Amino acid sequence: MTNHILAIDQGTTGTTVLIFDRDTQIVGRAYAEFTQFYPRAGWVEHDAAEIWRVTLETAGRALASAGLSARDLRAIGITNQRETVLAWNRHTGEPAHRAIVWQDRRTAAFCDDLRSRTGVTEMIRAKTGLVIDPYFSGTKLRWLLENVPGLRAGAEAGDILFGTIDSWLIWNLTGGAAHVTDPSNAARTQLYDIHRGDWDSELLSLMEVPARGLPEVRSSSAVLGHTTADGFLGAGGIAIAGVAGDQQAALFGQACHGPGLAKNTYGTGSFLLMHTGSSTLRDPGPLLSTVAWRIGDQPLEYALEGAIFVTGAAVQWLRDGLGLIAAAAETEALARSIPSNDGVYFVPALTGLGAPHWDPYARGLIAGLTRGTGRAHLARAALEAMAYQTRDVTRAIEAQTGIALTELRADGGAVGNSFLMQFQADLLGVPVEVPRVSETTALGAAYLAGLATGMWQDREEIRATWKLASRFEPGMSIAERERLYTHWTKAVEKSRGWAA
Ligand code: G3P
Repeated sequence: MTNHILAIDQGTTGTTVLIFDRDTQIVGRAYAEFTQFYPRAGWVEHDAAEIWRVTLETAGRALASAGLSARDLRAIGITNQRETVLAWNRHTGEPAHRAIVWQDRRTAAFCDDLRSRTGVTEMIRAKTGLVIDPYFSGTKLRWLLENVPGLRAGAEAGDILFGTIDSWLIWNLTGGAAHVTDPSNAARTQLYDIHRGDWDSELLSLMEVPARGLPEVRSSSAVLGHTTADGFLGAGGIAIAGVAGDQQAALFGQACHGPGLAKNTYGTGSFLLMHTGSSTLRDPGPLLSTVAWRIGDQPLEYALEGAIFVTGAAVQWLRDGLGLIAAAAETEALARSIPSNDGVYFVPALTGLGAPHWDPYARGLIAGLTRGTGRAHLARAALEAMAYQTRDVTRAIEAQTGIALTELRADGGAVGNSFLMQFQADLLGVPVEVPRVSETTALGAAYLAGLATGMWQDREEIRATWKLASRFEPGMSIAERERLYTHWTKAVEKSRGWAA
């Protein structure tokens, strides 16, 4: 067997494919964006058929860049944008509707309805570790079943399959042979009991979802199926051996394998996860309890999560929505071109606010504009917002766990922005560490697949491959930190409930 793992990171705005060797060197890579659909205010959709096409094409280019053929692979690891959900026809493979993306707010009114029912918030919290919010798949799947003609009848007759993006990719890679998911993805549907580790009939009837279309929940690190030649670039028989939601994969990839270890991934949004061992926190407060992963047949492991919906997406909006910059990388020089934020704050509640506010009706806000405000201020405010929102979440984590953060491991696209990393360290008052492989999400998927196929024997061997690249020490005075944060908090208050 060879020692190359292909990791598919199917994210919200693009698919990255990386090929890792045993020393976690990246020997091949490719990336492609795909279409975002915004059919109405607050709605976000993806074309799942396009995602599949783009993923396959990106995998082909990554292999070509490594000078490898698909047959040279030891295994495939998959990690994906979570909660995004779709339904497709098991006979034709055709999606019944565009996938509804995690950012989509169309089920906010149904969530209000759920919240108004006695005991439902507590029941959902107890079983799933989640709050009631349009973020999760359950209410989105209900929307599809209610609104797509014939879908409910098709699902009840066994002709329709449901799944998050991991299930969709695996089903296609295996030529329709495996309809599976892993517990870290299942945990985000709001249909899965994270303690029992199974789909839950009470939740299914609450969301009116027929059990028949659901994938089988397997493990995050195990052989879940094999590719077919038609499904995967002419190479049948390659094991799909690692699957996890992207944030849990990043936690694994950061070698945060034990209780108390935490990471923050700066992608479309930012997601701060802390490993909590083999149990969840008794009271997660405004945070989520979620499955971290299941390795083989071992017990489930859990994490505490602060989900921030929009961080990198705010920079993308400056680029694509406003045309203010040509590339995200420009933001660093722009931010540095002014000595301070001059009182300009950008609350990027473009898809409502997640942790710790959970307000689907919040909307984006730019505050503090003057005649002197320019592009640099907006770019700087978008970067600063990533750090302020991270502080909102770390404060909540510290309050719920009673554990003070002593450092933060960072990863994701924006860690290349050293203005942001330094500002983050300043604002938290603790060092921020960036690993050698900053694409930790894909690395996590590769680790999970490599662990299941014997490329690495155990987690200890994996931890030995994790290396630090840079460390940002806090330098800002406490007074300045608090002054900035107080203004931020005021701006957030003004963004709340805007679209209610
Ligand atoms: O929960 C949503 C999350 O999985 C999206 O991740 O990397 O696409 O921003 P990303």
